[in-house]
Amino acid sequence: PADGAGPGPLAGKVVTISAGGTREALDPVRFLGNRSSGKQGAALASAALAAGATVRFLAAHMDIEPPAGVELVRVESALELREAALKAAVDSDVVIMAAAVADFRPADVSDTKIKKVDGEEAPVVRLVRNPDILQELVEARNAADRQQLIIGFAAETGDAHGDVLQHATAKLKRKRCDLLVVNHVGVGKVFGQDDNSVVILSGHGAEPQTASGSKADVAAAVVDRAAVELSAAFP
Ligand code: CTP
Ligand code: CA
Repeated sequence: PADGAGPGPLAGKVVTISAGGTREALDPVRFLGNRSSGKQGAALASAALAAGATVRFLAAHMDIEPPAGVELVRVESALELREAALKAAVDSDVVIMAAAVADFRPADVSDTKIKKVDGEEAPVVRLVRNPDILQELVEARNAADRQQLIIGFAAETGDAHGDVLQHATAKLKRKRCDLLVVNHVGVGKVFGQDDNSVVILSGHGAEPQTASGSKADVAAAVVDRAAVELSAAFP
């Protein structure tokens, strides 16, 4: 069964999953985007369906079709995703933010197509920060005192300021979500590829858990862990 009616560790639960990459409009025909394929989010949705959950799927731009059997909401920009996510979260048991959300959007969106004019300088695109949807979901959950598990995804690289796990641990502290699924991103790794390996960090002190294999394997591990956390936190 694909709608939460059947057996499984998430039977009777509502799971909201965001996936894909947001697109931030510059004008009616152009946008700033990113390389998220949506494959990990789609795999999460399939795993949650298989676990018996009702799945709300908030799809930003994806290279593939969302899995059948989800309640599909298409979104374009980070602001649209924020609205859809805060709404869907109200009665969700689990929220998973797998979407690649643009950190910035163009400050001004032209109503008409931006034209080049000979002899004039090239336009400068000024950006403004997008809201942090994951953080807002956690704040809304805490304010409403909802029994809800919130899971973030993070793509990290090591750099001069720290390695992947140091960055991820700092991010988990900042976002205060329950679990953070951390991907190690390098050139040509993870984005659009079919295999990955992740570390699942807990915001409540549990040891880091690793999972690897196909995106379906990783998704199954995340969904299993979500079911375990749900039954432990809200028996
Ligand atoms: N996220 C979000 N809203 C944003 C940016 C990110 O909800 N405006 C979510 C993503 O969906 C993901 C998690 O936050 O679940 C981590 O995203 P990431 O881009 O790694 O975190 P940032 O806080 O944006 O940090 P960075 O500056 O490293 O990009
Ligand atoms: Ca970001």
